[in-house]
Amino acid sequence: MPAEPWRAVVLGGFLLSAILTAATLAAAPALSPVRSGTPVPLATPDPGEVATGRQVYLQNCASCHGANAEGATNWLQPDARGNLPPPPHDDTGHTWRHSDEELAQIIRNGMRDVFNATPDLTMPPFKDQLSDEEIAAVIAYFKSLWSEEHRRFQEEQNRRQPMAMATPGVGP
Ligand code: HEC
Repeated sequence: MPAEPWRAVVLGGFLLSAILTAATLAAAPALSPVRSGTPVPLATPDPGEVATGRQVYLQNCASCHGANAEGATNWLQPDARGNLPPPPHDDTGHTWRHSDEELAQIIRNGMRDVFNATPDLTMPPFKDQLSDEEIAAVIAYFKSLWSEEHRRFQEEQNRRQPMAMATPGVGP
């Protein structure tokens, strides 16, 4: 039996709290890189770009995603072929969860849900039809459909991007 058992307990408690403090300090910036207390500033949408984006959208996307980007009815349920239908791009969907770069990549290269029953690229690629400016304009149009809260969330994803894509030469 140690001569001073209380000493071990006090020391143990001290070490534990020191470790916890260090872990909290180390984790804090990684968990919330942009939550500095002040909300991220949002750029004022350019009405001309939004109008162009709406035109590009009506010509290329509305047939699947709906005239007002409302998506297919029951878009969360797989269709008769076992594939996910076109989702909305307004606040009711999850387009606002993706950064500008992720959205541009989806629009350029197309996509399919990994759980779709067929291998079809159900969201077709537009890199041969649309310029980078037209793709940026469609994204600007989508932003005009989002609440301030969702726009802020999406802007935080944009600011996170450079850290997530730090490896040069990787990616499409
Ligand atoms: C032939 C139908 C079709 C057309 C046309 C189409 N899409 Fe899609 N799109 C889809 C489908 C289906 C999905 C869902 C794919 C999945 O999750 O499996 C999708 C998904 C998306 C997503 C991902 C949304 C998210 O939250 O993950 C974006 C962004 C998108 N489309 C933008 C566009 C834009 C912009 C256009 C026009 C330039 C367009 N789509 C034209 C069918 C279409």
